[in-house]
Amino acid sequence: PAARRLYHKNVMDHYNNPRNVGTLPQSDPNVGIGLVGAPACGDVMRLAIRVDENGVIEDVKFKTFGCGSAIASSSYVTTLVKGMTLEEASKIKNVEIARELCLPPVKLHCSMLAEDAVKSAVKNYQAKRLARQNTAPAAS
Ligand code: FES
Ligand code: FES
Repeated sequence: PAARRLYHKNVMDHYNNPRNVGTLPQSDPNVGIGLVGAPACGDVMRLAIRVDENGVIEDVKFKTFGCGSAIASSSYVTTLVKGMTLEEASKIKNVEIARELCLPPVKLHCSMLAEDAVKSAVKNYQAKRLARQNTAPAAS
């Protein structure tokens, strides 16, 4: 019961006072953006990462149109990924998020949204970098 109150506090804290809300410009070559939706409820999460030259996530912003658990999950995941390498960030599991926030089973998919958003942002960044390598230097 004590743990339950504690976790509930964690959700409320991230929900009332979400960290890293906002966006980063897709035009920035070092930015990757993940946009994912939850089929179970139609909620949407947009997560943007900016990656430094060492492959470390130096900045992260999110916008979530969804329930309190989805907002808390995205807020919490931004605090996790900041300072991580792309590889580390890709390994984040929704169960870690759900455990930290003590999400009940019906809200597990809300934390899945956060895991998917991180993976999708990393993929978007890697695709952009690959495209850059393939096109540069273009002979005209
Ligand atoms: Fe959409 Fe959670 S069901 S807000
Ligand atoms: Fe659908 Fe939370 S993301 S209920």
